Amino acid sequence: MSDFNKDFLFGVATASYQVEGAYNEDGRSMSIWDTFCRQDGKVYKGHNGDVACDHYHLYKDDVKMMKDLGIEAYRFSIAWPRIFPEKGHYNPKGIDFYKRLTDELLKNDIKPFVTIYHWDLPQWADDLGGWLNREVVDWFGEYVSKLFNELGGYIRNWITLNEPWCSSFLSYFIGEHAPGHKDLGEAVLVSHNLLLAHGKAVEIFRDINSSDSKIGITLNLNEVFPATDSPEDKAAARIADGFQNRWFLDPIFKGEYPKDMLELFGKYAKTDFITDGDLKRISQKLDFLGVNYYTRAVVKKGNDGILNAEQIDVDNEKTEMGWEVYPESLYNILMRLKNEYTFDLPLYITENGAAYKDVVSDDGHVHDEKRVEFLKKHFKQAKRFIDDGGNLRGYFVWSLMDNFEWAHGYSKRFGIVYVDYETEKRILKDSALWYKNLISTRTI
Ligand code: NOJ
Repeated sequence: MSDFNKDFLFGVATASYQVEGAYNEDGRSMSIWDTFCRQDGKVYKGHNGDVACDHYHLYKDDVKMMKDLGIEAYRFSIAWPRIFPEKGHYNPKGIDFYKRLTDELLKNDIKPFVTIYHWDLPQWADDLGGWLNREVVDWFGEYVSKLFNELGGYIRNWITLNEPWCSSFLSYFIGEHAPGHKDLGEAVLVSHNLLLAHGKAVEIFRDINSSDSKIGITLNLNEVFPATDSPEDKAAARIADGFQNRWFLDPIFKGEYPKDMLELFGKYAKTDFITDGDLKRISQKLDFLGVNYYTRAVVKKGNDGILNAEQIDVDNEKTEMGWEVYPESLYNILMRLKNEYTFDLPLYITENGAAYKDVVSDDGHVHDEKRVEFLKKHFKQAKRFIDDGGNLRGYFVWSLMDNFEWAHGYSKRFGIVYVDYETEKRILKDSALWYKNLISTRTI
């Protein structure tokens, strides 16, 4: 008997700004990431997504490559500034690319899973206040309506937002991602507006799409451990869990923000923009939840003045990102979801993977055995969850190919396919061949 049944979807994932390139073609306007990359010191060596993997032009080859590997589903995102390069101005040429890509996928029997927002907000929207301006919900609504009307006939699986924690707290509080602000109050407001936009998209979806289409959201979830058993560290871990996990899970699945976090944020930020009607909109029924999992967090009491929680460095194996390899938390997170939030709702791992220092060997291959080990261990935890009654429907490896890793530019390689950025040549890494074998045998 195989480990994964025939309906389990083996996929790979990418995102528009990270792979497409063609930043000024066919009417695309600038996004906040184009702007951010052009600011001094924001992105490693000033790298940007102007060309990236040139997926915009090479998509046919990339789909063929996926087909050859036996990939069953491809999660990609749509660049909003291609579809609405200006406020209220729809650009059919922008959507054409996604039609061609979708056609190609369907011809090759690969299921498209589309992320509607993977962080490339149009610059025009940011100029009008961006995610800080509640009107963004309507702009987002206009954008998603177009997508559902134009692509809904072919695309059956939609993800409203990718990792809203990153597009709010990492972008507006920690300042590491575009637009690079450092203000907790802003971040809280942004997280709320993002969730409202998510809710608006679900409403529009139910109006427009056929009933066999599905919609969900992707969250980056962490398991948080206290560094010691002390009450202080335990309290810090609880806050870190609230910050990273509960702040999003609770409104989406329980229709309320966690009280402890509301109280904490309330000390530094306004929260009076949150109304009951908002939470109803945010907590509409979903068809699935997507989970991005990379690492766990071990936290002790800190003195940052706000969260007072500090992540500690654990002496354990790490990836090139400095992230601890901790596969068990994948199982624990999925189990927690099943027990506390999602119950029997279908789950997908919409991202899991690792960056390593990959090199092309003299034999022309990339022997990335660490990535193979990483993936194997995580797939085992996914299987363990299924064996324990979990409703896990699929697994998307991040990423199909090396790409623009945000503030790290091209310095971090997450692909199972190596990209030579000089020539745009793709080389299958050993992990890609391992994945191919996993897909064909469905057994780890
Ligand atoms: C999550 C993000 O969705 C993706 O864009 C990013 O490249 C990976 N994590 C790796 O950091």
